[in-house]
Amino acid sequence: MAERGDVNVVVRPMRPADAPSVARLHVSQITAGFLSTLGPRVLTSIYRALPRTRAGFAFVAERDGEVIGFITCATRLKKLYRGILWRKGWLLSLMLLRYVFNPRVLQKMLQTLFYPNKVDRPDLPEAEVLSVVTAPQARGLGIASRLMGRAFEEFARRGHTHAKVLVGADLVPANAYYRKNGFRLAGTIRHHDQPENIYVIDLAGVVPGAANDARRSGGE
Ligand SMILES: CC(C)(COP(=O)(O)OP(=O)(O)OC[C@H]1O[C@@H](n2cnc3c(N)ncnc32)[C@H](O)[C@@H]1OP(=O)(O)O)[C@@H](O)C(=O)NCCC(=O)NCCS
Repeated sequence: MAERGDVNVVVRPMRPADAPSVARLHVSQITAGFLSTLGPRVLTSIYRALPRTRAGFAFVAERDGEVIGFITCATRLKKLYRGILWRKGWLLSLMLLRYVFNPRVLQKMLQTLFYPNKVDRPDLPEAEVLSVVTAPQARGLGIASRLMGRAFEEFARRGHTHAKVLVGADLVPANAYYRKNGFRLAGTIRHHDQPENIYVIDLAGVVPGAANDARRSGGE
């Protein structure tokens, strides 16, 4: 069992080999999300590709060789989608074929595919935190905050001044966690027929030396 400030919890960049553990954590802990309904095999495939893309990055928290948390991010979501499809497009198409005759899943799939257009607004940064999870037995110990700290540094290193995150409005711990980590509410939209809060963070306030000009996104 990890403890707050546990030096044995290592936060490091995610590797393709972490994909099955990350997918399992995602499916078991983000039950409200659409991606979880696709199951661990599809998610493993997506997470194998993500660290190899230029527009995506991820970190994991590891203790005694076990992945107990992760964070996934995009500097430009449309580009990340393209990067994943380029690497895993055929495999994903085959895996997703069985949903073609399921109108509900198909509709959610299309909503997910077109989601980047929905948040492609001049008042919102392009850089985005996609998912963050800590295993239930390791919560409340600051692990997700350490993961977020590494993500902030990486966004800043890539030249971004702000980042956003969308989260289900009814997810109380997650909303509290984003606010605690410096995000400010910037609006609400409906996604997958649910209200989602949009939070934005000014990275200059959390990463010493992060460039801050008038632009909201910047970077590559
Ligand atoms: C949200 C989540 C990632 C937080 O992970 P964590 O490692 O426990 O977070 P931290 O220990 O870094 O907590 C940081 C702050 O978040 C807030 N927070 C975390 N869990 C909370 C809870 N259950 N209730 C209220 N606030 C909470 C607190 O302000 C906390 O600071 P504090 O400990 O000083 O009070 C974790 O609960 C989780 O994996 N939830 C399921 C997946 C999810 O909803 N992810 C977010 C949407 S993708």
